[in-house]
Order: sequence, then structure tokens, then C-alpha cells
Amino acid sequence: MRISFAILGAVLVTQAFAIGNSSVNVKNIIMDDQSPVVLSCNVTGISDPVVTWYRFGIKLMDEENKYEIDMNNNTLTILNPMQNDVGPYECSYATDNKTLYVYSKPIIDNHHLGKSKNLIQGEVLVVNCPITGYPLPTVEWLKGGKPMDFNSSRIHFNIVDEIEGAQMTINDIKDDDRAEYTCVGTNIINGEKYNDTAVIMIRVIDKLAALWPFLGIVAEVVVLCTIIFIYEKRRSKQNNFEDEDSDPINDVKTNDSAAREGDVRQRKNEK
Ligand SMILES: *[C@@H]1O[C@H](CO)[C@@H](O)[C@H](O)[C@H]1NC(C)=O
Ligand SMILES: *[C@@H]1O[C@H](CO)[C@@H](O)[C@H](O)[C@H]1NC(C)=O
Ligand SMILES: *[C@@H]1O[C@H](CO)[C@@H](O)[C@H](O)[C@H]1NC(C)=O
Ligand SMILES: *[C@@H]1O[C@H](CO)[C@@H](O)[C@H](O)[C@H]1NC(C)=O
Ligand SMILES: *[C@@H]1O[C@H](CO)[C@@H](O)[C@H](O)[C@H]1NC(C)=O
Ligand SMILES: *[C@@H]1O[C@H](CO)[C@@H](O)[C@H](O)[C@H]1NC(C)=O
Repeated sequence: MRISFAILGAVLVTQAFAIGNSSVNVKNIIMDDQSPVVLSCNVTGISDPVVTWYRFGIKLMDEENKYEIDMNNNTLTILNPMQNDVGPYECSYATDNKTLYVYSKPIIDNHHLGKSKNLIQGEVLVVNCPITGYPLPTVEWLKGGKPMDFNSSRIHFNIVDEIEGAQMTINDIKDDDRAEYTCVGTNIINGEKYNDTAVIMIRVIDKLAALWPFLGIVAEVVVLCTIIFIYEKRRSKQNNFEDEDSDPINDVKTNDSAAREGDVRQRKNEK
């Protein structure tokens, strides 16, 4: 079978035969999930054509776990399609060729933009929106659910991997930049609009607020030192006072000797 096809193909690919009423027909396809993507190319006006497949000018061949090319029905199967398999493919027969597209709705990786961030006033915020899709999505950012203006003096939207606005930066962040930001990626496939969104919460910390814990510790140390100082001062004052005005040890001695004297006197009287 294969051999006869090859021979037939060699005969068919003479200009005289191919030119005429043959026509290459392709159909675009939407990649939906991880299941294999089948691209088909029909050549009309000719019997048993064998087409060749190209991607970015490179001829595609059967490749384990990647491509399967069927010459009976002119299909190219992408076995484990990934986001980077989207885009244009070319089906070629003789001098005729057509481009077909593997489309994908916008997809934001993991559907989030990372953990919420706390920034100190004046710092720079950088948020990436890791979005893919074909046709390339257009990206819009919302602040608290409302569309943001284009580039301002502090806020910029940059291009990442050919996608405009896939990165937002805010310089010299201010108190009222605190908000929930949403990245919205949209594309249109066969007239149908698709989108994906993801959010991130940004909090802005007062420059002084960052100092509070430190100031708290300083205050605590000062209070403790003061207490110790006052206590020590009082104690030494009290000791001095006791030394000057009373002598408890002498008092005891006096009482003691008085008692002993009384004792002696008592014994003398008994005798
Ligand atoms: C295309 O070719 C077939 C024969 O291969 C012929 O019958 C038909 O009339 C042709 N059509 C046109 C539009 O030339
Ligand atoms: C090619 O032919 C097959 C079978 O007839 C059909 O299922 C498929 O949709 C056709 N593809 C195109 C691009 O016309
Ligand atoms: C093409 O043919 C192969 C078998 O030769 C079959 O497995 C496959 O399902 C066919 N594809 C289409 C789109 O008809
Ligand atoms: C497809 O056709 C165009 C001209 O129509 C040509 O420049 C190009 O090289 C062709 N591509 C392939 C893969 O044959
Ligand atoms: C916004 O600024 C970035 C870089 O600062 C630039 O690449 C981009 O083209 C600007 N976009 C608009 C709409 O002005
Ligand atoms: C995203 O798509 C959904 C459903 O298709 C729609 O309800 C929603 O308004 C769209 N969001 C935006 C921001 O376009």
C-alpha cells in the first residue's frame, strides 16, 4: 500500500497534474483539553493525494509521543497537545498550500496571579499575568473591578511573550494603590468571545507602620529601664534612711542586754 502510494505520489506531483482543479481544504480547530488534536487536510479534485505538513517552515514527521501523520486520510495528530502547540500549521500539496490554526481560549496559568502582596509605600509592584492562548489574547487590568487607565506616570503595562499588557508595574506605590487587581485576557475564535480572569490582592503598608514594631521594642526597653532605675534609686534611698535614723541591730542588742540584766537581777533576788 505504502509503496504504491509513494509511486502514485511521485506521479501526482508533476506540475501538469497538480495544477488544474485540485484544491487544499483545511479546517481550524480549538484545543480544549489534553486530548489529541487532529488536523485534517482534504485535497479535492484529485484522487489519493498525499500532503505534507509544515510548522514554521519545518516539515513535520511522525514523532513518538508528539505527531502522528496519516497518509490515507491526510491527518496530522498532535498526541499530547500543550499550550505551545497552538498557532499556525501548513498543509501542502504540490504547489498549493493552506494554513490552518490550532486555537486556544485564553488560559491564565493556575488561574491566579500569585499570593497577595504587602508592599511598603514607595516600593515597586510587579505583577505578571501568565496568560496563553491563540489568537494572542488582549489583556486588560481591573482595579477593584473597574478598568484601569493606560500607562500613567507611575503605572505601566508591558509586553511579555508578544502579549501586550501581560505585566503590570506600579512605581512608588501609594496608599490608594491598595486594591484587588484583576487580569482579564480575551480572544475571539470563529466569532466567539472567550476570556479568563485571575485576581491578586495588594496591600500597602505605611512607611512608619513598618517602623512600629521596632519603635514598640524601643519603648518597651525604655519603660523597663526607667522602672529598674526608679526601683534601684528608691531602694538605695530607703537603705540610707534606715542607716541614719534607726539601728535595728543596736536596738536588739540593747533590748537583749536589758533583758539579760533583768534576768540577773531576778536571779539575785531569788537568792
Ligand atoms: C476537476 O477535475 C475533474 C477530473 O479530475 C473534472 O471532472 C472536473 O470537471 C474538474 N473541475 C473543474 C472545476 O475544473
Ligand atoms: C476531510 O474529509 C473528512 C472525511 O470526509 C471530513 O471529516 C473532514 O471534515 C474534511 N476536512 C476538511 C478540512 O474539509
Ligand atoms: C485516519 O485514518 C486512521 C487510520 O488509517 C484512523 O485511525 C483515523 O481515525 C482517521 N482519522 C480521521 C480524522 O478520519
Ligand atoms: C506555500 O505557498 C506559498 C506561496 O503561495 C509559498 O511561498 C510557501 O513556500 C509555501 N509553503 C510550503 C510549505 O510549501
Ligand atoms: C506602556 O509602557 C510600556 C513600557 O513602559 C510600553 O512598552 C507600552 O508600549 C506602553 N503602552 C501604551 C499603550 O502606551
Ligand atoms: C468573561 O466571559 C464570561 C462568560 O463568557 C462573561 O460573563 C464575562 O462578562 C466575561 N468577562 C469579561 C471581563 O469580559
